Amino acid sequence: KPQHCILQGAPLDCGKTNRGCIMGPDAYRTAGLEEALVSLGHTVTDIGNVTPRAFDETPHPKLHRLSETIAWTQALADTTEESFAKGMPITMGGDHALAAGTVLGAMRHAAAVNRPLFVLWLDAHSDFHTLESTDSGNLHGTPVAYFTGRGDFPNWPALPAPLPFENMAMIGLRSVDPAERAALQETAITRVDMRQIDETGIAQPLGAFLERVAAVNGMLHVSLDVDFLDPAAAPAVGTTVPGGATVREGHLVMEMINDSELLTSLDLVELNPYMDERGRTARLMVDLAASALGRNVFDRPTRAY
Ligand code: ARG
Ligand code: MN
Ligand code: MN
Ligand code: MN
Repeated sequence: KPQHCILQGAPLDCGKTNRGCIMGPDAYRTAGLEEALVSLGHTVTDIGNVTPRAFDETPHPKLHRLSETIAWTQALADTTEESFAKGMPITMGGDHALAAGTVLGAMRHAAAVNRPLFVLWLDAHSDFHTLESTDSGNLHGTPVAYFTGRGDFPNWPALPAPLPFENMAMIGLRSVDPAERAALQETAITRVDMRQIDETGIAQPLGAFLERVAAVNGMLHVSLDVDFLDPAAAPAVGTTVPGGATVREGHLVMEMINDSELLTSLDLVELNPYMDERGRTARLMVDLAASALGRNVFDRPTRAY
């Protein structure tokens, strides 16, 4: 189905100490994201880069660039909510701390149109630390705790309501800290680690999740972290973890998302162009986004999951 895609740049680089994600939005533009979507029959508006409101950073003893991350969360939530009024927000990151803002924006829109929101987290990591449990102090490890309402996030924007754990699936897990693991086991978040993908394939757990979204006419926000993919295929990321998804597993996920016709917003996060090899990771991420929006070799009928 033709969509109106709203590309929004989020050159947020404050979610960890390693720098370079600030260059992400321009790498997606250079790799031809807009052109790829247009070639599939979609219309595209690139609204440029979001900027955070002014913030006053008094260094926190533990948390890296906290005030800046809060300012970005506010700005991205507002912009994403506005983009929903025009079409499908596609956020070109920026590190994964940006998902606090984009998911909040999606939550506000879901509340306004009275539909349940579901989040698919494609990542090696669960990013489920609270501000207390993080030992790195890197806030890109915390957005899922924020929008599911776990732990205190003082001075962060208020949520309309926490995202229910049942409405969230994490696929690709292979680096989960002990505190995150203990907390996750207390929740109903669907967790699919790389071993399960090895054993059952990726289509089975993804199909089951998409079926649950479709059953209640849910909105689907997909947050794609570069490190979901194996670093051999996608080297341009600060937090490489061996043993990730293959190029084909990545495409299959995106193709099934397209077939489901459930996608309402997409984050492309953690691309660090400074670490790329001749643009190959940027191009792969563009190709994956294109698969999520309908690129395939032969037209296949829409399947029911
Ligand atoms: N769990 C680790 C931490 O707390 C890594 C988080 C990586 N997150 C990411 N979005 N790449 O720092
Ligand atoms: Mn992540
Ligand atoms: Mn990750
Ligand atoms: Mn950690």
